[in-house]
Amino acid sequence: MKTVILIGALGKMGQAALTGLSKHRVITAGRSGDVDHIVDITNEASIRDLYKKVGHFDAVVNTVGFCEYAEFSEMTQTQWMTTIMSKMMGQINLVRIGQEYIADGGSFTLISGILNVKPIPFAIADATTSGAIDTFVKCVALEMPRNIRINVVNPTVLEEAWDVYGEMMAGFQPVPGKLVGKAFERSVDGFITGEVIFVDA
Ligand SMILES: NC(=O)c1ccc[n+]([C@@H]2O[C@H](COP(=O)([O-])OP(=O)(O)OC[C@H]3O[C@@H](n4cnc5c(N)ncnc54)[C@H](OP(=O)(O)O)[C@@H]3O)[C@@H](O)[C@H]2O)c1
Repeated sequence: MKTVILIGALGKMGQAALTGLSKHRVITAGRSGDVDHIVDITNEASIRDLYKKVGHFDAVVNTVGFCEYAEFSEMTQTQWMTTIMSKMMGQINLVRIGQEYIADGGSFTLISGILNVKPIPFAIADATTSGAIDTFVKCVALEMPRNIRINVVNPTVLEEAWDVYGEMMAGFQPVPGKLVGKAFERSVDGFITGEVIFVDA
């Protein structure tokens, strides 16, 4: 049994990840609500505070990455920066700061999303930052110290989120959260590193 910090635990992707972590001691974290620890991944001090408060942990699973949605011609610098500071730098900082605290042989699992390989209108910021995180994981895996592993789950839309995104995702087939949970399980319990784990129908 590993101690796993699950960030974004109350969100739709967090709930999907949770289905794959049942054999572990899961410490939940998020920005609000009924979680073990409150954290804001856009704030470095808040991330450090989370790791210090948890103490020993073997894995970090992050499912947070806020994205602004708009046509490219309408996207403001502020909207770009909001997305970059959450989905891209927020996740990079979870790893950058977390590598100081995580146990030897531990693992990080990040979140991206299928829109960087199957683009749709209004999702340019999500697609761009998802692509950045896929690249980050593939490359930074080569620099991880102490046998620490890192992977990213790149899923298509969840069945559980189809009511929110379905209208903008014509021709996509949603997948059950439980299937995406298997991808998180493979990252945490397996030996792979530097992988983009795609989950598509
Ligand atoms: N849903 C899908 O089908 C799907 C598919 C592929 C990829 N993804 C990706 O998965 C990620 C999560 O999506 P989701 O559908 O799970 O969203 P969601 O249901 O809205 O959940 C997001 C969670 O993250 C928390 N959060 C937001 N900003 C935070 C921050 N700065 N620090 C800490 N926690 C924060 C939210 O807390 P509050 O409630 O307090 O705001 C909420 O609990 C996104 O990057 C999305 O692109 C989603």
